[in-house]
Amino acid sequence: MNRTIIDHLNAELATAFVLALNAKRYHWTVAGPHFRDYHLRFEELYTAADSTVDELAERIRMVGGTPLHAPAQIEAQTRAAISNPSVRLEADSMLKEALANEEATISLMHEGIELANEAGDPGTADLLTRFVQAHQKEAWFLREMLG
Ligand SMILES: [Fe+2]
Repeated sequence: MNRTIIDHLNAELATAFVLALNAKRYHWTVAGPHFRDYHLRFEELYTAADSTVDELAERIRMVGGTPLHAPAQIEAQTRAAISNPSVRLEADSMLKEALANEEATISLMHEGIELANEAGDPGTADLLTRFVQAHQKEAWFLREMLG
């Protein structure tokens, strides 16, 4: 059991939960002439983040740790910013916020891949190498939408 890898994977898990929650917020509250496009795109953004949650948590079990689940743990360990509910967001601001969080997630995954390689844990490195490509795709979509 490698505490550094477990702690890192829990930060990844917390971050994935936050990306998913933020994307639902955008999906539910976006408005304007391109409503349908944004509404559907943000649901895809949600699905991309949510589809990493279970594998991250189960990887934590495989390496001997306990996956976090409580909102207070998520808030303490996320590397993505939780979308501020007291600030009303236009579609453009949602895209910018989502892009900044995807970029933070990509950096976190790069760190994790290095940590896993140093720890002789190619399974974790491979999981993060797969997931970082999904986040790079989301970041690309968001950048293109911002123009
Ligand atoms: Fe929906």
